[in-house]
Amino acid sequence: MNSFIENVNFFEGNNPEKIAAEYGTPLYVYNEKILRDRMHKVSQVITKYPYTANYSVKANTNIHILKIALEEGINCDAMSVGEIEMLFKAGFPKDRIFFIPNNVDASELIYALKHGIMTSLDSLEQLELFGECCEDLKIPAEKRQCAVRINPGVGAGHCEKVVTGGKKTKFGIAEEDIPQIFEITAKYSLTIAGINQHIGSGFMDPQPYLDAVTNFLQIALQFKELKFIDFGGGYGIPYHKLDDEKDYPMEDFKKRLEPILDNFVEKYGSAPMFKSEPGRYCVAESSVILGRVHATKQNNGHLYAGTDIGMNVLVRPSMYDSWHDVEVLRDGKVLSRDELIEQNVVGNICESGDILAKERKLPKMQRGDLACILDTGAYGWSMCSTYNSRPRAAEVLITKDGKVKQIRRRETINDLMRLF
Ligand code: LLP
Repeated sequence: MNSFIENVNFFEGNNPEKIAAEYGTPLYVYNEKILRDRMHKVSQVITKYPYTANYSVKANTNIHILKIALEEGINCDAMSVGEIEMLFKAGFPKDRIFFIPNNVDASELIYALKHGIMTSLDSLEQLELFGECCEDLKIPAEKRQCAVRINPGVGAGHCEKVVTGGKKTKFGIAEEDIPQIFEITAKYSLTIAGINQHIGSGFMDPQPYLDAVTNFLQIALQFKELKFIDFGGGYGIPYHKLDDEKDYPMEDFKKRLEPILDNFVEKYGSAPMFKSEPGRYCVAESSVILGRVHATKQNNGHLYAGTDIGMNVLVRPSMYDSWHDVEVLRDGKVLSRDELIEQNVVGNICESGDILAKERKLPKMQRGDLACILDTGAYGWSMCSTYNSRPRAAEVLITKDGKVKQIRRRETINDLMRLF
């Protein structure tokens, strides 16, 4: 396709050049309709049995986006006290938050216990610590409920760094250690209310996930009276959409998942609440970054388009070699892809690895153009930094009625100074 932003009317009739002029660049721009559409789709993955999709907020914790998740009726996963506080601020009640930390000290577990938030423990030692916290706080036995994260033995993801299941990962409790879970729960009178897993992030083929669900449900049979079973997140999105990459096959996935659940429910004798933990799927496609081309050059035969979208703004390309499609806008209009020329789209950070798009075939860019980077709603702003003492970008939302609303102001140098 020539342009995703034109195809979906991403700016809802607003001129991106005007938005960039008003709010400055680099700028994260979100589209509310796309956000709600993806959140709705993940909430329909299981319809035959009790099910909730837990949006994994690490992908994007902007409070305005969390409020939309709240309105869409989906629950959330949090990985830290900070993420829980963001959820409270957005209006989430405690029973719609699932806390899945790893390697935390007692203070975070005590925080969750005091707020009555269901917590999953990622190792035997963390489970033991949770038991000790219950003792210290004199939590009554009926409230000593928690979950455990099991390593499903299967992993998948868009690159090695985001695979979280299988033999080579720090996450979860190995299947062979399950007997020790029961020793610890007996010692502290804990009840395992749920079990969770997560195989990794950003896969497009549902098969490894379905294999992991099958394994996991076999493991689940060892746990009596589970209230919930959480299969994790990881559903990918088409980052190569300009090359017509297809969406994650949600409908096909749903059809293949159902008989696996049927089989389990029959053996278990009842259907607990099933859960998933999608982060990227909910938010990635709902955002683009607008950045300004400030200089172009040719270095030893290589063309560079130098923008204000450095690795401080979007770290995924330099961290994982991730691909993000780039559209080029001049005077608010998308340039045609009829004539493409190989260019390197780079940022303004003092690192050779500060490359957003390497040797990419794009319309020839010139100073003053806008680079529009697609699919930046997940792990975009949430992983940005102030490296080189560059304040963090602002965020705006194109609301469903086409208005442009600022949902995070641009950070200032004074904000950076405040900590000293
Ligand atoms: N649940 C757990 C326990 C997780 O660790 C993660 C992601 C998720 C759910 C959500 O996964 P998702 O549906 O978003 O794939 N920064 C990387 C991705 C790291 C994901 C870490 N865990 C990236 O930009 O690709």
